[in-house]
Amino acid sequence: MKTAVVFAFIGLCVLSALSLAEDLKKSKPSATVSPAGEFSAPTTTTPKPTTTTPKPTTTIPKPTTTTPKPTTTPSPTPTAAANVSVGNYTLLDDKKVMCVMAQMALQIRLATPKANGTFIVQPNMVKTKGTCQDTKVNLTLAFKEGFITFTFNKSVANNTVYVDTLSFSLSYPFSKGGNGEYSANNKSMQLFPTKIGHSYSCKNQSLYMGNGLYLEVTQDRMQAFNLTKSNEFGLPDPCPADLPNYSVAIGVGVTLLVLIVVVVVVYLLSRRKRADGYQSL
Ligand SMILES: *[C@@H]1O[C@H](CO)[C@@H](O)[C@H](O)[C@H]1NC(C)=O
Ligand SMILES: *[C@@H]1O[C@H](CO)[C@@H](O)[C@H](O)[C@H]1NC(C)=O
Ligand SMILES: *[C@@H]1O[C@H](CO)[C@@H](O)[C@H](O)[C@H]1NC(C)=O
Ligand SMILES: *[C@@H]1O[C@H](CO)[C@@H](O)[C@H](O)[C@H]1NC(C)=O
Ligand SMILES: *[C@@H]1O[C@H](CO)[C@@H](O)[C@H](O)[C@H]1NC(C)=O
Repeated sequence: MKTAVVFAFIGLCVLSALSLAEDLKKSKPSATVSPAGEFSAPTTTTPKPTTTTPKPTTTIPKPTTTTPKPTTTPSPTPTAAANVSVGNYTLLDDKKVMCVMAQMALQIRLATPKANGTFIVQPNMVKTKGTCQDTKVNLTLAFKEGFITFTFNKSVANNTVYVDTLSFSLSYPFSKGGNGEYSANNKSMQLFPTKIGHSYSCKNQSLYMGNGLYLEVTQDRMQAFNLTKSNEFGLPDPCPADLPNYSVAIGVGVTLLVLIVVVVVVYLLSRRKRADGYQSL
C-alpha cells in the first residue's frame, strides 16, 4: 500500500520534471519567432498598382519601423546621444519583386587606445539603394555621414545565402582632434549565413572590421532572395549565440533524479526502522 503511494509520488515527480523541461524549452524567449500568419495564404496583400514607367534603379527611401523617442534636446547632431533603433531596409528588383529585407539596428563602434566612440545609424535618416541580381544583391544604406554596404551572395550549389562583402565609410569625429574619416572593407567573408529561402536572425552580433572598428548588428532579421510572395521572411536560421540552451532542462532533470533517489532512500530507511521497531516489541 505505502509502496504504491511512493511509486505514485515518484511518477508524479517524473511527469512534472518532464513537463517542466518542456515548458522551459518552450518559454525560451527568442527573437526568431515567426509571425503567426506567416504561412497562411496572403490575406490582406493589396495588389501593387504596376506603373508603366520602367524604373532602372531600385532605390526606395523606406519609412522605418522605429519607435520615435522624443529626445529632450533636439540637437542638430543627434547621432551621438540618440537611442539605438531598428530599421526596416528593403530593395525591389526591376520587376517590383522584393529581393532583400533587413530589419536591424546598426552601430559603428571605434575602440582604440586613442579614441572610443559609437556612431548610431538612425533609420529615418537612411536612404536605401542597391542592386538586385539573380545571385548577387547589393544593399547600401546611405546616410549623411557615410554608408554601409552589404553584398549578399546566393550559392545554389551549396544551398546557402550569405554576405560575402561588408563595407562602410564614415565621416564622424569620434574624438576631439581625430580626423573623423573611417572606412572598412571586408571581402570574402561568410556572414549571416542561411539556407536559400530562410531568414537570418541574431539578437546581438559584433563584427570586427579592422583598425579598431566594429559593426554592431543587433535585433537582426534579414533575408536576401526567395522572400515569400507577400514579402515575408522565410523560416529563421538563428545565429549560434541564439540557439536554445538545453543545459537548463538537463539541470532540472538531474536535480529531480537526485530528489527521487533521496525520497526512495528515505522511504527504505524509514521502513527498515519501523520494521526494527515492530521486531523489538
Ligand atoms: C518592412 O517594409 C516592407 C516593405 O515596405 C513591408 O512589407 C514590411 O511589412 C515591413 N516590415 C515591418 C516589420 O514593418
Ligand atoms: C578606450 O577604451 C579602452 C577600454 O575601455 C581604454 O583602455 C582606452 O584608454 C580608452 N581610450 C580613450 C581615449 O578613452
Ligand atoms: C555594391 O555597392 C558598392 C558600394 O556602393 C560598390 O562599390 C559595388 O561596386 C557594388 N557592387 C555591385 C555588384 O553592384
Ligand atoms: C551585445 O553584446 C555585448 C557584448 O557581449 C554587450 O555589451 C551588449 O550590451 C549586448 N547588447 C544587447 C542589445 O544585448
Ligand atoms: C528561389 O527562387 C528562384 C528564382 O525565383 C527559384 O528558381 C528557386 O527554386 C527558389 N528556391 C527556393 C529554395 O525556394
